Amino acid sequence: MILLDGKSLSEKIKSEIASEVKKDFIDKGRKVPHLAAVLVGEDPASQTYVANKEKSCKEVGFISSVYRYPANLSEYKLLEVVDFLNNDDDIDGFIIQLPLPKHINEHKVIERINPLKDVDGFHPVNVGRMMLNLPCFLPATPFGIMTMLDRYKIETAGKHVVVLGRSNIVGTPISLMLSRKTDKANATVTLCHSYTQDIKKYSVDADILIVAMGKMGFVTADMVKPGAVVIDVGMHRVPASDTKSGFRLKGDVSFDEVSEKCSAITPVPGGVGLMTIVSLLLNTLKASKKEIK
Ligand code: GUN
Repeated sequence: MILLDGKSLSEKIKSEIASEVKKDFIDKGRKVPHLAAVLVGEDPASQTYVANKEKSCKEVGFISSVYRYPANLSEYKLLEVVDFLNNDDDIDGFIIQLPLPKHINEHKVIERINPLKDVDGFHPVNVGRMMLNLPCFLPATPFGIMTMLDRYKIETAGKHVVVLGRSNIVGTPISLMLSRKTDKANATVTLCHSYTQDIKKYSVDADILIVAMGKMGFVTADMVKPGAVVIDVGMHRVPASDTKSGFRLKGDVSFDEVSEKCSAITPVPGGVGLMTIVSLLLNTLKASKKEIK
C-alpha cells in the first residue's frame, strides 16, 4: 500500500515555487506575488486555514495579507472590500474564506470578484471556463487532487472514478475535471450524493474512490474494491486531550481498515488538505504572471 503523502509532496512543490519566485521575480527585480485573504467572523476552522495560508505564503516568498472583520459585517461592506481588492494593483489574487455568516449572500460576493484575481476558482466565469477546458483558475482542492494523482503517476484514463459528494467546491468540479478529454483525465466518472440509493453498489466498483461527503469514517473496507486508490477529502475535528491544539483531524474514510485493502490512500491529516494550500499558491503565481487574459 502506498501512502499518498501530501506533506512531502506539498513541501516539494513549495520548494519548486520558492525557486521560481527567486529566479523569475526577486532576481529580476519584479514585485513578488501577493495573495490576500478575507476572513469574516471567528470560525475556528477558517482561522486555521487562513493562518496556514499565511505561513505557506511566507515559505515560498509571497506577500500575504489578511483582512479580518467581525461576524456582523454587512454584505454591503463586504462588497466594498471586494471592490477594493479588485482595484488594488499590488494584490495579484485573493480569496474570501468560506463559510460566510448567514446574513451574507455568498454567491453575490463571489460574483463581485474579478475573475482574473479569483485564485479560488469559485467565480462562475472560472467554473464555466473549467467546463470548456479554457485557461482558468481551478478550484484549489480538486486541483490539489489532480496534482497528487499526476505526481504519483496514478493512471486515470479509462478508469472508473467514483466521487462521493457533489459540493460546489470539491465533488462537482473534480468529477468534471476527471471526465474531461484532457491529458491527465479521460476517466469514466460516477458522482454519488445524498439521493443515491445504495452508495456501496457504486463505490465497490471504483478504481479511484474520491470521498468528499463530510461524514466522518463513512467509507469502510467493505465499500472498497481490493487495490483501489482512495482519496479522502474529509476533515473533522475530534476533541483530543493528548494534542497541543486540543483536537485531532479525522477523514471521511475509516483509514485503518481501508488502508489494508487499497493500493494507495491519502491520510488525514497529511493528505489532500496540504495539497489545497499548494494549489492556491500555484494559482496565485499564475495570477501574478498574468497567464490568463
Ligand atoms: N472553506 C473551505 N474550503 C475553502 C476554500 O478552498 N476556499 C475558501 N475561500 N474557503 C474555504
